[in-house]
Amino acid sequence: MKKKFKVSIIGAGHVGASTAQLLAHSGISDVVLFDVVEGMPQGKALDLSEACPLWNSSSSVTGTNDYAGTAGSDVIVVTAGMARKPGMSRDDLLKTNAEIISAVGLGIAKGSPDAVIIAVTNPMDVMAHLLFKTTGFPHHRVMGMGGVLDAARFGTFIALELNCSPGSVNAVILGGHGDQMVPMPRFTTVNGIPVTELIPEDRIEAIVERTRGGGAEIVSLLKTGSAYYAPAAATFQMIKAILFDEKRPLPAACFLTGQYGVEGLYVGVPAILGSGGVEKIIELKLNDKEHEAFTKSAAAVSALVKILNI
Ligand code: LAC
Repeated sequence: MKKKFKVSIIGAGHVGASTAQLLAHSGISDVVLFDVVEGMPQGKALDLSEACPLWNSSSSVTGTNDYAGTAGSDVIVVTAGMARKPGMSRDDLLKTNAEIISAVGLGIAKGSPDAVIIAVTNPMDVMAHLLFKTTGFPHHRVMGMGGVLDAARFGTFIALELNCSPGSVNAVILGGHGDQMVPMPRFTTVNGIPVTELIPEDRIEAIVERTRGGGAEIVSLLKTGSAYYAPAAATFQMIKAILFDEKRPLPAACFLTGQYGVEGLYVGVPAILGSGGVEKIIELKLNDKEHEAFTKSAAAVSALVKILNI
């Protein structure tokens, strides 16, 4: 019989702990919270464990400061690192977080050689690349979470505009998880109806701009850090797709090997996610304007990768 799934979360801050909460509440896996801060992951894990009886959940939740505790994971989510403060772009975190993530990559690889890794730390596309390099895993087992969150934000703003259920919006986004991300109105539908049929062009443009600044909008409101409820919900959706081999098409930062004219770089594209990680990349036919925007977004990611020399 298959043992219970094990999901480890590296970094027990807001995004990490919120993801752990969704996992423990759903009961779909055991959860390990790892952090370098002594006592903090243990404390949060104990608190979550004590909620499990109330949720009728069979998840075991443990906290650790030792990578050995993450051994044998099916999925590892990497959220460790600094979050943005007001006025900062995701890219401003590059050097600090690269050091942290390199150590994480080395720490997690040995104990969980078959895991699928989801990078969440910003600048996320670059951190996915760094985890791919430092773990030595095949690229289809290392991906990044950004597109699911950005698409959820795009979908939220469309639902607000139309005063319709957010759950019926199917939003599509491509590109890096940065200021140059590429929301795709032409492929976005409300229960199958193209959004371009429902919302005038100037309003779509305004929604696209709000989506691009969606993370920064929350940072400027919170003042002390960045978003975590929607990032955790997005990560949870990806974890489920992998654990249950759902073959679910979701936008993820994937290592491109020529798709969309990009080679050797992690950028957000629609992909089929299953137990093998990124099982297939879906290549959409872009028009000139979309292609140009995608290329610009990929170039922004590439510039950061070059700084790190990876
Ligand atoms: C955001 C951060 C988590 O988009 O990248 O909110």
